[in-house]
Amino acid sequence: MSHNYSLSMKNITKKFGDFTANENVNLDVEKGEIHGILGENGAGKSTLMNVLYGLYKQTEGDVYINEEKVQIDGPLDAIAKGIGMIHQHFMLISAFSVSENIALGLKSQKEPFIDMVEIKRRIKEVAEENNLTVDPDAMISDLSVGQQQQVEILKALYRGGEILILDEPTGVLTPQESEKLFATLKMIAKKGHSIIFISHKLDEVLEICDKVTILRRGKNVGVVSTENISKKELAGLMVGREVTLSIEKEDIKPGKLVLDVSNLTVKGSTVASSLKSISFSAREGEIIGIAGVDGNGQRELVEAIAGLNKVISGTIKVNGEDITNKSAKEILKRKIALIPESRKVVGSVCQFNLVDNMILRQLYDKKFNCWGVIKYKEANIYTDEIIEEYDIRTAGKSICAAQLSGGNLQKLILGREIHLDPNLLLAMHPTRGLDVGAIEFVHEKLLEQRKAGKTIVYVSTELEEVMGLSDRIIVLYNGKITGIVDQLEASRELLGRMMAGEYIDDIKEASL
Ligand SMILES: Nc1ncnc2c1ncn2[C@@H]1O[C@H](COP(=O)(O)OP(=O)(O)O)[C@@H](O)[C@H]1O
Ligand SMILES: [Mg+2]
Repeated sequence: MSHNYSLSMKNITKKFGDFTANENVNLDVEKGEIHGILGENGAGKSTLMNVLYGLYKQTEGDVYINEEKVQIDGPLDAIAKGIGMIHQHFMLISAFSVSENIALGLKSQKEPFIDMVEIKRRIKEVAEENNLTVDPDAMISDLSVGQQQQVEILKALYRGGEILILDEPTGVLTPQESEKLFATLKMIAKKGHSIIFISHKLDEVLEICDKVTILRRGKNVGVVSTENISKKELAGLMVGREVTLSIEKEDIKPGKLVLDVSNLTVKGSTVASSLKSISFSAREGEIIGIAGVDGNGQRELVEAIAGLNKVISGTIKVNGEDITNKSAKEILKRKIALIPESRKVVGSVCQFNLVDNMILRQLYDKKFNCWGVIKYKEANIYTDEIIEEYDIRTAGKSICAAQLSGGNLQKLILGREIHLDPNLLLAMHPTRGLDVGAIEFVHEKLLEQRKAGKTIVYVSTELEEVMGLSDRIIVLYNGKITGIVDQLEASRELLGRMMAGEYIDDIKEASL
């Protein structure tokens, strides 16, 4: 072999029962390289990494580290072999300090005592060597998500990680935090470590990676150098057909006021997600994007409007009528539709078949209910129409919702809610977890609604999508609005600053 690969995975196949999540996958990573693994949701990226980290045992295939065949018996064994993994969800203990978290589970030379002084000294040393800003005495609970991620990276390096795996690390970061992460990773790679960077975001992969291995439906479809490939080509490889990456939006003059939220205060699941006296409005033909890092009050806002979360103070008016603290059923009667955050928990009844799911929101409507008896003939026709129009891939309408794939379930919910002909559509992460084709479809449907003069409140953490679809963008941080910007004024940089808590001028007085 002419290359000196620090890692080679050869012909890895991983089956879960009858299902093949990885099929003959190959991955070669050199020393000092940042290697991307790109693929849509469900392509098998995490599975491959879990095999490498010893969390899963491969059905077939071999792993080589520094050209030597190895067997990885579990995460501890992986760590011993120089593999570190920074998980999508951090595994730090929040009541402990940084140094305690790093020391946890490590062998101490002074067993059974832990030499905290020495550990702290080493932490500082490793942090300095790698340009990480980490205070060993800080409590995890006091750190931002970005800082916690730095601790995870430090922890992996501290344990001698030569090959670092980062599984979708930017999902929880602001653009500025992502930039900082990229600088850190480049620095670590320069020192000779190999980094495996997993993502479904094309821009990121192009920015940070030297090479990319692309997976589609569990198989390799290519290995490319990022130097000579365009975003569009990369997208094509990822989804297996040509894709348009731009969102085309017509100019529409907003109509009359539809949604008027004033001084809204709602208790959330955390302090950060509790809404603290927020005010905004939305008009006909307007898409209002709600951006922010997850957990800053987005869900609380949407649920308060939909009648699923109690309003402590303030008012919500729709078309001039005060709907504050009305029941979800009353609010539905006002034609306020909801695409919820969780498709499976709130969005649908998994055990119900597609027909019952489709008419779920209109059970008491004369259209489908005659003196308490469901009119199944009408319901069946209605369901067929939506399946057809929304291209829901299903074995039939009598299967239960649980058997649909995520994307098809999302289309079902989208179709159901849009067919309510709503005055106001609340859409939370309507494209989360969908492939590029399905995302395009959802965008088209939302823009159709906008064109029909509907009002849409659209919550997303995907900044490109928010900027492409919205007429105005509201950023939520710590349950407050840090700013409302026009689509034309929005940039990643500006939104990123607002997502990190910076108020933009004139908004400041209004929302404090
Ligand atoms: N433990 C498991 N049992 C059964 N199926 C699984 C398991 N883990 C993953 N899968 C399936 O394998 C496929 C690939 O999943 P994953 O590796 O998580 O994809 P990615 O990380 O690319 O989004 C998915 O269809 C997923 O449902
Ligand atoms: Mg994954």
